[in-house]
Amino acid sequence: MQDIFELLNKIIHADISVLLEGESGTGKELVARALHYNGPRRDKAFIAQFCGNLSETLLESELFGHKRGAFTGAVADKKGLLEIADGGTFFLDEVSDIPPSIQAKLLRVLQDGEFRRVGDTETRRVDVRVISATNKPLHKEVEKGGFREDLFYRLNVITINMPPMRDRDGDLPLLARHFLNKYATKTATPEKRITPDAMRMLSGYHWPGNVRELENAIERAIVLAGDRDITPDELIIPRVAKAPGGSRSLREHERDYVMRTLDEMGGNKTKTAAALGVSLRWLHYKLAEWKDAGH
Ligand SMILES: Nc1ncnc2c1ncn2[C@@H]1O[C@H](COP(=O)(O)OP(=O)(O)OP(=O)(O)O)[C@@H](O)[C@H]1O
Ligand SMILES: [Mg+2]
Repeated sequence: MQDIFELLNKIIHADISVLLEGESGTGKELVARALHYNGPRRDKAFIAQFCGNLSETLLESELFGHKRGAFTGAVADKKGLLEIADGGTFFLDEVSDIPPSIQAKLLRVLQDGEFRRVGDTETRRVDVRVISATNKPLHKEVEKGGFREDLFYRLNVITINMPPMRDRDGDLPLLARHFLNKYATKTATPEKRITPDAMRMLSGYHWPGNVRELENAIERAIVLAGDRDITPDELIIPRVAKAPGGSRSLREHERDYVMRTLDEMGGNKTKTAAALGVSLRWLHYKLAEWKDAGH
């Protein structure tokens, strides 16, 4: 993270495109906002558009706007978000999901600052700094043929790789304390402490949901702890996933992990199986096994 902060300081005032790569919850949007709100465009808009699994028409109209009558439901002329962001920063979130036809139009914006609203003949101009984010390495999408190489080069003048929590060992206590402080400030209550064994437990977990998951775990623990310090009892995370010599067996860990995911998916087994990367059949089999074992 220190390297990242140094890099951020160097590029904050350079008006170049930045690509943020990293797993979900690693802080990509946080960095995008930091670049905008500390940089020369801070007095203009920061606009984010999520580009994952949106229909092509919707995404195109969101980005570029449309002319009245351009498609069913286009009852009036509409400005696109790029126009609204003029002079400011545009954050393309999940950029790897942008369909090819829109990739071509974005390339034109990046090269010449030009675009047209859907269904319009007038060419318009915008000046935006583009920051994009993806949790799939974008060069791989280029290799697979799903992403234009020319656009890729325009977007990643600088690439920042956001490290996952599991590779940021030393940062965990700092982040945990940051979230304790954040919560205390937000609720005007005294800052809570984490007992050493609870801190060890936090450090032993592999945090698939990264900083976002840590923040949620801390908030939940604060609430559950009432007016006491945070102990392992308040940490609803699988006990010891990373550290060797854990007191729980792999089987118990597996069950914890699956049940927790099931809980997060609101009990939906299809979504749970997808999130875990297992078949629905496997999930049914395991649930039946644990039920028989009396859990
Ligand atoms: N270094 C950090 N310090 C404090 N909070 C952080 C840090 N990194 C991330 N967070 C917090 O963690 C949460 C997730 O961060 P963010 O939304 O930026 O992740 P992301 O990489 O965009 O995730 P996704 O790919 O799921 O969209 C946010 O609430 C953010 O404020
Ligand atoms: Mg994000």
